[in-house]
Amino acid sequence: MILSLRNIMKSYSTAEGRLEILKGIDLDLDAGETIALTGESGSGKSTLLHLAGGLDRPDQGQVIVGGRDIGALDDRGRAQYRRSEVGLVFQQFNLIPSLNVAANISFHARLADRFDPDWEREMTERLGLQHLLARYPEQLSGGQQQRVAIGRTLAARPRLILADEPTGNLDEATGDSVLDLMLSLGKSAGSALLLVTHSARLADKLDRKVLLRGGMIAG
Ligand SMILES: Nc1ncnc2c1ncn2[C@@H]1O[C@H](COP(=O)(O)OP(=O)(O)OP(=O)(O)O)[C@@H](O)[C@H]1O
Ligand SMILES: [Mg+2]
Repeated sequence: MILSLRNIMKSYSTAEGRLEILKGIDLDLDAGETIALTGESGSGKSTLLHLAGGLDRPDQGQVIVGGRDIGALDDRGRAQYRRSEVGLVFQQFNLIPSLNVAANISFHARLADRFDPDWEREMTERLGLQHLLARYPEQLSGGQQQRVAIGRTLAARPRLILADEPTGNLDEATGDSVLDLMLSLGKSAGSALLLVTHSARLADKLDRKVLLRGGMIAG
């Protein structure tokens, strides 16, 4: 088991009072497994991903990654976890504008001390980015930028990838091919994937689907 969520509860306090968003989530992700997380807008998908990624802490419950409770770590421990063990991909590509494509791709792998030139070369070719390595993010199309963002995440071969609508900004055909690349590279890297998507069609490409409804996993 790479990720275990145990009875996760999360609420936010707002001007309208306390909002209970997650009311006891249990979810297990095996090593190398891919799961699509679906649910209505506002159901708490991004909230759940942020907790799994160590960007936030649950009110109650455990986020166990590789046997360790991430939610119990202090800020520094969670920063270390994000840097070294997990790969995050968001709808916004979040590339570093002052670095070229090659440097963007190797950035996280170098930070995590897992830079591997052979894997990076193979991945860059499979992503179709080899002729774009000297360009800067602003000189790329949306689909190209998202391929760089995926390359950056996969360069470090994280055991766990968390992706929040990673193809949400792309047209359907580009989004499909970017997701296919992510799935096939993730398999090569041995990464498990928890992917938030609104698209039933994209969700069908993954091993398993789970639906978030009313703060619970509905199926
Ligand atoms: N920091 C916050 N403070 C208060 N409320 C928040 C905060 N973040 C999210 N929420 C609320 O929590 C609920 C769940 O938000 P979340 O972003 O997890 O939904 P989602 O399922 O990802 O939706 P979408 O599909 O639109 O991205 C929403 O009602 C949202 O308004
Ligand atoms: Mg969201």
